[in-house]
Amino acid sequence: MEGEMSQRLGQLMLLGMLLAMASATNSSLAFQGNEYLNGIPERFDETQLWRVHNMSDAMLQSIPVGQVLEEKFGGNIWKENSKFLDVSIGKEHVKAARSFLQAHRLDAEVLSDNVQSLIDQELLEGIQATQAQPGARSKKASRSGSGMHWKDYHDLETIYAFMREIRAKYPNICRLYTIGQTAEKRDLKVLRISENPREFKKVWIDGGIHAREWISPATVTFILYQLMHNWENQPAHIRGLTWYIMPVMNPDGYEYSRTTNRLWRKNRSASRRTNCFGVDLNRNFDIGWTGFGSSKDPCSDVYRGSAAASELETKAVSDFLAKRKYNLEAYLTYHSYGQMVVYPWAYKAVKVKDSSVLQRVASTAVDRIAQKTGSSYTAAVTHEVLGIAGGGSDDWSRAALGVKYVYTIELRDRGTYGFVLPPKFIKDTALEGWTVAETVAQSIG
Ligand code: ARG
Ligand code: ZN
Repeated sequence: MEGEMSQRLGQLMLLGMLLAMASATNSSLAFQGNEYLNGIPERFDETQLWRVHNMSDAMLQSIPVGQVLEEKFGGNIWKENSKFLDVSIGKEHVKAARSFLQAHRLDAEVLSDNVQSLIDQELLEGIQATQAQPGARSKKASRSGSGMHWKDYHDLETIYAFMREIRAKYPNICRLYTIGQTAEKRDLKVLRISENPREFKKVWIDGGIHAREWISPATVTFILYQLMHNWENQPAHIRGLTWYIMPVMNPDGYEYSRTTNRLWRKNRSASRRTNCFGVDLNRNFDIGWTGFGSSKDPCSDVYRGSAAASELETKAVSDFLAKRKYNLEAYLTYHSYGQMVVYPWAYKAVKVKDSSVLQRVASTAVDRIAQKTGSSYTAAVTHEVLGIAGGGSDDWSRAALGVKYVYTIELRDRGTYGFVLPPKFIKDTALEGWTVAETVAQSIG
């Protein structure tokens, strides 16, 4: 906890220093010999976040709007579907990018005119929310060992400490696996909770496939907390399952998004051909791998990798699950943003055979969410609402392992803050994620 706190305060101080120095020098060399040398955060001052509407018109004109904005105007695609495209554009490209859109009669709504201020606000709010209340018990005494809470986002070490803490508390039903390591040598960790691993039906839950979707690991750790803080009193449909929980499938990317680039999506493996880093892990699974919706360009944000399951993270998860496919009933993977509960297929424009069951369970979850927090989520088939994309972990779990209840959950929000969801929304959003897991557990019965 101490480490995590000082890391964040360090970031805030660095922010101040950078602002102060901005006029004095243009050179980041000023930081040589400084511990931040490799971690000078990328800034997004006056970067705008746009929502480009009538994307179907663009399709009719057959202009690859996203690709052009990415390649010609340094755009970063946040979200793409059949209706709109959310993309952030650096200050220096705003004018030209706008003319490009106008030339094709597309209009862009400005969702934010300064992405950096969203990021600064997120950081500041998290720090404020975790400062000790006056008159409260001392920090250490009132905190659990790992310092886990849902008032703010956490670094990987805190999340892993939380997993170890749970295992230490319930050694008889928990098992903590290290299923592999990343390119940067971080552990890939999965916690299993089960009173009868041989016989109970299994549920897999993962988060953090995409680095910048911070609400995802926060939600998956919250699910872990919901399960465990009151395990003895959980209903039979929860206690009678084996739960596999992996809060961060992409630890390198997650840490990189915390220290260096808040908008990073992929993992951090080096490519052979270019200076670009990272593979989109959700385009790297062995299903429809060469198909639509991914790129073979290592510099693209949806780079599919050099081969199916080329990435250590993909390989570790695929191998781990393939060995445990017996009784594996559900595969839940948490992403953001968009507020949706979607099910296969994504790699082709076809519904899975039992789609009516999947639609019904998703709709039940969505109704319960509306009752609990008032948020409106959409239940749908993936390719219909998010477009066709191959290489996803969700499709793979159905195609390769025959898992029945396969869902990708796109958590909050619908584009106000996007990935940079303020910490005050963590708890309710995590509760929404838990509601989906609970509903699926109940359906397995
Ligand atoms: N936002 C997620 C992604 O782009 C959606 C995943 C849906 N499933 C899929 N196989 N594309 O990865
Ligand atoms: Zn995602």
